[in-house]
Amino acid sequence: MNRAQQEAYRRDYAQAKKEGKPFFPYAIYKDHIVAILVFAGIIGMAIWQRVPVGPPVYTATSTFEPRPEWYFFFLFQMLKIFKNQNALVPVIMATFLVPNILMVLLVGTPFIDRRAERRISKRPFALSVAILVFIGMAWLTYQGETGATPTSGGAVTFTGITPGSSAAAGQTVFDTEGCTSCHMLKGAGGQVGPNLTTVGTKNLGVDWFVRHTKCPSCVTPGSQMPPFAGLTPTQLQDLGTFLNGLGTTYK
Ligand code: HEC
Repeated sequence: MNRAQQEAYRRDYAQAKKEGKPFFPYAIYKDHIVAILVFAGIIGMAIWQRVPVGPPVYTATSTFEPRPEWYFFFLFQMLKIFKNQNALVPVIMATFLVPNILMVLLVGTPFIDRRAERRISKRPFALSVAILVFIGMAWLTYQGETGATPTSGGAVTFTGITPGSSAAAGQTVFDTEGCTSCHMLKGAGGQVGPNLTTVGTKNLGVDWFVRHTKCPSCVTPGSQMPPFAGLTPTQLQDLGTFLNGLGTTYK
C-alpha cells in the first residue's frame, strides 16, 4: 500500500468507527438471533425427521465393510490415494500430515497474506486456492461414495476362471466369508494375513487348503487365522480349487 492509500484507509476507518455501532450489544445481539435460529432448525428436524433404528448389531459378521459417514469420505478416500504395502504410510499421510498442513496454512493465512485488501474479488490467489480445496474435497467425497471398498474382493478378476466353475464358486466363498478382510488378492484386501495372489505356486494341493481353512492351526501350528469349520464340503472344495490355482491356472 502506498501513502495515499494508507491515508484513505485510515480516514475511512475513523469515519466508520465514529458512525458505527459497538460490538456489544449490537453484534452480539445479531449473533444470538442467528444461533437461536440454527438451534431451532436442528431441534425442529430432530422432532419432525425421526431417525430410523437400524437392525441390531450382528457381532459375528465376517463381511463387515468399514466405511465412515459420508462427510468423512474425503479423508477415507485419501487413505486409498496413499495406498502402500506399508499400512502406516496412508494413515500418517491422510489422517495426519496432509490435513494438518492444510489446517496450519488456513490458520496462518492472515499472517502470510498481510495486505489490507479483504474483498474476495481482489484476492484471486486465495480465492482459487479455496475453490481448488473445495473441488478436491468434493471429488474425493464422490470417489469415496462410488468407489470400491478396500475389502470388496468382487472387483478382482482372474483370467482362467470361467463363470459357473468350481473356482468361480470358490472365489465367491472367498469374498463372502470375509477372507479379503485379512488377505490381499491383486492389491485389494487386508494385510493381516499373507497376500494370496500367487499362493497356488506353492503347490500345496487342494486338500491342503481344505484342511487349512477348516483348522488353520492344525496345519500351521500357531496360526492366528480363525477356523472356518462351518463351511460345507462343497464350499471348502471350491475354495481349495480356487486357492490352489492362484498364480498358476488363474492369473
Ligand atoms: C482374521 C484374519 C484372517 C482371516 C479372516 C482369514 N485369514 Fe487366512 N491367514 C491369516 C493369517 C494370520 C495367516 C498366516 C498364518 C497361517 O499360515 O495360517 C493366514 C494364512 C492363510 C493361508 C496360508 C498362506 C500361505 O502362504 O501359507 C491361506 C491359504 C489362507 N490364509 C486362506 C484364507 C481363506 C480362504 C480365508 C477365508 C475363508 C482366510 N484365509 C481368512 C489370517 C486370516
